[in-house]
Amino acid sequence: MRGISVGARTPHSKQLFTGGGRTRKIKAVYQSLTQSHHKPTTVFSQNNHALPPGFELEGYRIERQLSVGGFSIVYLGHDTEGQAVAIKEYLPNSHVLRGEGQIAPTIPVGFQTEFNHGLKLFFEEGRALTGLDHRNVVRVLNFFRANGTVYLVMRYEVGQTLRDFLRKHRGHQDESFLRGMFSGVLDGLGEVHGSGLLHLDIKPANIWLRADNSPVLLDFGAARYAMDIGPPEPRAMYTPGYAAPEQYHGKFTLGPWTDIYAVGACMYAALAGSAPQAADERLQDDQLLPARQRWGKNYSPRLLATIDDCLRLEPMRRPQHARALQASLNTGKAGDQPPGSWLSRLGLRGW
Ligand SMILES: Nc1ncnc2c1ncn2[C@@H]1O[C@H](COP(=O)(O)OP(=O)(O)O)[C@@H](O)[C@H]1O
Ligand SMILES: [Mg+2]
Repeated sequence: MRGISVGARTPHSKQLFTGGGRTRKIKAVYQSLTQSHHKPTTVFSQNNHALPPGFELEGYRIERQLSVGGFSIVYLGHDTEGQAVAIKEYLPNSHVLRGEGQIAPTIPVGFQTEFNHGLKLFFEEGRALTGLDHRNVVRVLNFFRANGTVYLVMRYEVGQTLRDFLRKHRGHQDESFLRGMFSGVLDGLGEVHGSGLLHLDIKPANIWLRADNSPVLLDFGAARYAMDIGPPEPRAMYTPGYAAPEQYHGKFTLGPWTDIYAVGACMYAALAGSAPQAADERLQDDQLLPARQRWGKNYSPRLLATIDDCLRLEPMRRPQHARALQASLNTGKAGDQPPGSWLSRLGLRGW
């Protein structure tokens, strides 16, 4: 495949997962706004109020808020049997308002179309995941409409995001941990791809780490059915640093290789402590130092070559399937150890 020509350049800041990094997610709804007859509308910047603790929601009891993002609030809840669940509520800050004590959000005049469009995407997230049952993919138990919005009920997982984990464990990451953990990510991703879905927003903040270090893929808000991708169009949502070049413009088809770029970026970020240079910048002026060059003394050539292969700008030069990548990660040939690997085997990290 020939090299990629550069599409419209999107301004952004390099996203770091360490400290104040700015993640920019652009939902399809915004893209459609700028392309359709709608006039771009004001974006609210308020923080919406969460449902109160104790709130009864279709047989689930809300315990407390776990997280709030630009598009949703995630709660810890319990089902009627007392089983813990995570409940994600669609509540885009930019087009709904919910004041204190209010349950159903107010959708200001002129925002209904955008709200409905986002709601449909959110519903898709639920639909996409209900058929999947894999230990490395968040388990969706239920999704439904209520209070004028949509809820996604998931199995509650105790753990932390890979982003937070990496923040706490800056510096050298043990290679066997990285191989094992990313092999789990790829196990889950293989299942996702096998069901015809692409995740499209893999990044350390969307990889959940259980206490036993097994990963769970979270947040399928950007997921799409591979076969529904259709003709090129500006891509719906991306995170600079982790998004593949083809997510910035429509010249190349999205495919498993798009998620594989993001997995490579996560592996790179795990070593670097920050996201790699964003793909659209790389297309203009590629400053990304290959992993082999940067960490040749500390990690095996096999691991570093695998990372570099995933981060190739040309989609067809990357590993094409999660399973192929997993095999390459798991194969450590004799003599394939980094010069200083005995150091890392001294148990610098207890996991
Ligand atoms: N199944 C779950 N179990 C436990 N916590 C969860 C679960 N799903 C989401 N969370 C919490 O909510 C946060 C945001 O979830 P995510 O799906 O990534 O939504 P967002 O669209 O806001 O990024 C996670 O980082 C985590 O703290
Ligand atoms: Mg997320």
